[in-house]
Amino acid sequence: MKTIPRIPVASDDLPAKPTRSLDHLPGPRGHWLKGNLESLLPNPGPFLLEMQATYGNCFTIGMILNRRVVIWMGETAHQVMLTDREQNFSSRGGWDVVAAYFGRNILTRDFEDHRQHRQAMTGLFKRDALARYEEMMQPIIDDAVDRLDGSVDVYVEMKRLALEIAIEVFAGVAPGPTADAIYPDLVQVLDSVLAPHIRLPGTRHWKGMSARNRLKRRIQNLLRERREGDGDDLFTRLARHRDDEGRCLADEDVVDHMLGMLFAAHDTTASAMAMAMMLALLARHPEWQQRLIEEPEKIDWILFETLRLYSPVQFVPRRNINAFGADGIELPPNAHVLLPMQASHMNPACFTEPKTFDPERFAHPPKPHTFYPFGRGAHMCIGMHFATLEVRAVMTKLLGRHQLEPIDEIDLDYLPVIRPLKRLAVGFRRA
Ligand code: HEM
Repeated sequence: MKTIPRIPVASDDLPAKPTRSLDHLPGPRGHWLKGNLESLLPNPGPFLLEMQATYGNCFTIGMILNRRVVIWMGETAHQVMLTDREQNFSSRGGWDVVAAYFGRNILTRDFEDHRQHRQAMTGLFKRDALARYEEMMQPIIDDAVDRLDGSVDVYVEMKRLALEIAIEVFAGVAPGPTADAIYPDLVQVLDSVLAPHIRLPGTRHWKGMSARNRLKRRIQNLLRERREGDGDDLFTRLARHRDDEGRCLADEDVVDHMLGMLFAAHDTTASAMAMAMMLALLARHPEWQQRLIEEPEKIDWILFETLRLYSPVQFVPRRNINAFGADGIELPPNAHVLLPMQASHMNPACFTEPKTFDPERFAHPPKPHTFYPFGRGAHMCIGMHFATLEVRAVMTKLLGRHQLEPIDEIDLDYLPVIRPLKRLAVGFRRA
């Protein structure tokens, strides 16, 4: 069987590491060791808005060892970097940390090479496939919602649910010993992806890479079965994909896409975080619990408002191939450029009273170039409809059966990924 070949692209020639010297650009001075992390880490949104007011839309900040990265905010950034008509922004370069774990999945491919593989994956999310996934996830959701009673850490429960769905619906592995073996490895990988890459036994990176290697072997072993199978899961659909010329994806590409999908489905728990925060917010707003029972279609407003307040993907990272000018500043090639989503979601010029939970604001579309929780352009989230389907299925099952009450304060860590700092308990009382 002929396989789809890899297409060489401009970003193949990017140096392995981003350009270090960006000293000519404006931005706050950073500590030699901690850079500006002490200001950034507690909550990036307010800090970056303050920096934007001082330095304009494009400036640098210091990360560890005061390594400078470019922050680019505002309308032009959204338009130019996300749409990327000039093909100047490499997603592979931006997400290079992730590439070490997940090889060449669609997030870590660029331009024509990305287009070809994205096309192969589009069929996995067409209407009929989504309808089948919905049927497959329903019993898993029913079980999970039935478990909710009394005081529940919603982050832990939703993370578990999102992983159970991913293992069964994506990988096609039914509950049992194989699923039980996949689960801890997946958790280990997801918890290690953004840890410092220290290749010493015992470090988080070491444990994460070992778990990644075990997962990879499992996927490789399942691949032959999936190539010949007739299952409805995403893995079988991907393994059996043929392009217009009858070519299939090479084994290593299917494996990388599956690993990438298990990561992105989660995006270090994007869906779980969205669902957990929706529950925590609804617990604080009983009027919206009641309203959703009467108007269930308003779930989408709640989801959008949750993603606005607590964007699971805080930054879209890219590296530019050619030098370019941004908002009056010249950037050398191969800079690490970050577009911060949360800062625009928290900008009072874009959203009135941005800290207030007000789902009603989505009765009207947000101002252009202000709200892209699922990204935009070639790399826009391919799982957006899957994620919304998952959220709707959980909420539909839950509301009306349970009354939600707040227990713990919402206390979050924003970086490297947004997650609760401590237990995020919500009270579930059967209605
Ligand atoms: C609330 C949940 C989710 C949020 C907020 C979210 C957000 C995002 C964002 C912002 C991007 C763009 C990243 C970039 O441009 O660098 C992205 C890409 C992606 N997402 Fe999601 N995502 C979610 C759930 C999912 C799910 C459930 C899946 C899998 C079914 C998924 C699969 C992907 C993939 C494969 C990509 C890469 C697409 C490409 O590079 O062409 N995501 N997601």
